[in-house]
Amino acid sequence: MTYEKETRRRRSFAIISHPDAGKTTLTEKLLLFSGAIQIAGAVKGRKASRHATSDWMEIEKQRGISVASSVMQMVYRDHVINLLDTPGHKDFSEDTYRVLTAVDSALMVIDAANGVEAQTRRLIEVCRQRDTPIITFVNKMDREVRDPLDILDEVERELGMPCVPMTWPVGQGKRFGGIINLRTQAMSVFEAGSEKRPQDFESIPLKDGHARLEQRFGSAFTEALDSMELATGASPEWNHADFLAARQTPVFFGSGVNNFGVMEVLDALVDLAPAPKARTSTVIVNRQPEQKTIEPADKAFSGVVFKVQANMDANHRDRIAFVRIASGKYSPGMKLKVQRSGKELRPTSVVTFLSQRREAVEEAYAGDIIGFTTHGGVQLGDTITDGANLQFTGLPFFAPEMFATVVLKNPLRTKQLQQGLMQLGEEGAIQVFKPDAGGNMLLGAVGQLQFEVVQHRLKTEYDAEVRLEPSQYTSARWISAASPDELKKFEAAYPLRMAHDAANALAYMCTSPYDVRLAQERFPKITFHPLREHA
Ligand code: G4P
Repeated sequence: MTYEKETRRRRSFAIISHPDAGKTTLTEKLLLFSGAIQIAGAVKGRKASRHATSDWMEIEKQRGISVASSVMQMVYRDHVINLLDTPGHKDFSEDTYRVLTAVDSALMVIDAANGVEAQTRRLIEVCRQRDTPIITFVNKMDREVRDPLDILDEVERELGMPCVPMTWPVGQGKRFGGIINLRTQAMSVFEAGSEKRPQDFESIPLKDGHARLEQRFGSAFTEALDSMELATGASPEWNHADFLAARQTPVFFGSGVNNFGVMEVLDALVDLAPAPKARTSTVIVNRQPEQKTIEPADKAFSGVVFKVQANMDANHRDRIAFVRIASGKYSPGMKLKVQRSGKELRPTSVVTFLSQRREAVEEAYAGDIIGFTTHGGVQLGDTITDGANLQFTGLPFFAPEMFATVVLKNPLRTKQLQQGLMQLGEEGAIQVFKPDAGGNMLLGAVGQLQFEVVQHRLKTEYDAEVRLEPSQYTSARWISAASPDELKKFEAAYPLRMAHDAANALAYMCTSPYDVRLAQERFPKITFHPLREHA
């Protein structure tokens, strides 16, 4: 009973946006209004380092800060809300995609002047693939921005699902008068300033204030009523089940920096966003894999490692494995097993992430994120259980889009290089490919910055100085076939193009966009995967 009650009051969501849309600001306000932090400005720390991508100290700082602030927990209206940040820099986007596997919904922040931007678009794709419900917040209404109807239209097109406005803006920029709450049919009046508390905003019911509102806000008010009518006429009725199935998105307008329209979003997270869902896992019965549904309120503890982060201190090799709990309850001292290796997990500490602080876990349930400090033995995608025999899949690895060959400067450091590459590969900092034909290791990345970070970390953390040389490869595809013979034939046809990644999965290395098409024509029974799911 407790398990059910506890999981029902959990909400875990990721906040996604293009850099500068106002994600940090909104995060901070959500924490502030739920009471998780006392003063504004606490989340701002990481902002300073956001653009300094070429400065090593800054990258290090950014990594450290992101450990502290990438998961934040708050309690609001008796609900435990886990907020997962998604790194803003496009070169870390792989990490971001994996974060999306650990949440039950997403909050998309859009700059009302810019609409849906590139970085958001890629994140939306991943949400779409997983049918993640999305709540939309259109930010910066206090600026001169686009027509709200225009924004809705764009969101609908980009998301491929209808928008259902929950609030509607009256004017914008200098004439921003406030928002109309469609459900309560009351207008909340905008006032600039970051000291305002949600309850400080004046609220006027539409039914007794029409004339008054028209007088006060002039044509902005009448125009808002007209466009609101158009918008609601064109959008479907609000349907909670459709939202949960990612078939419609509720849309809120506001101004994060002015604390305005934020409370509506916090309430939506409690009222609309889903509690943890059941997950499918593979269990081995009589040596045969079988699918089994794991309910969040199941007694047995299980969870998935969706992120591994090296600690800031280069003298300590310990790492934090972030685990999203899928079922059961974690309590201190519990014995845990890494399913892949069958080994017992002996964490030196286990923490939760209360706003910006890390605290020892007292208890955690499905939906919560806990961090284990370990010295290795834990990989991205690992299933952790209290002994139960089950294995989750679904943690995505994306085919890299750029490659480099690793050349070790001092050949005596081979062991250190191998250890470093293995650990950085496990962490997901980079993908490592070992060519079947021998020769230097290959690094595969989604963004250029990943190479620089890995080169730097190999030197400082593993004392292995490397040179990264350009590689002829431009892409890779994981390959599979129904019959092992077919696979063998393929490998024999392209011996110089075969490589194994850190998880020992077979990949075909490409030098041009036509490679896959040609190889596919020649070998129609081979499947080429642009994405590998951890199994
Ligand atoms: P990010 O995490 O998505 O990258 O964005 P962040 O919150 O850091 O916000 C980016 C900029 O947009 C900041 O300005 C922030 O103050 C501003 N901003 C956020 N919400 C609003 C809003 O509702 N209205 C307006 N007008 N601006 C908003 P900055 O100049 O980069 O930094 P700062 O000096 O203001 O902190």
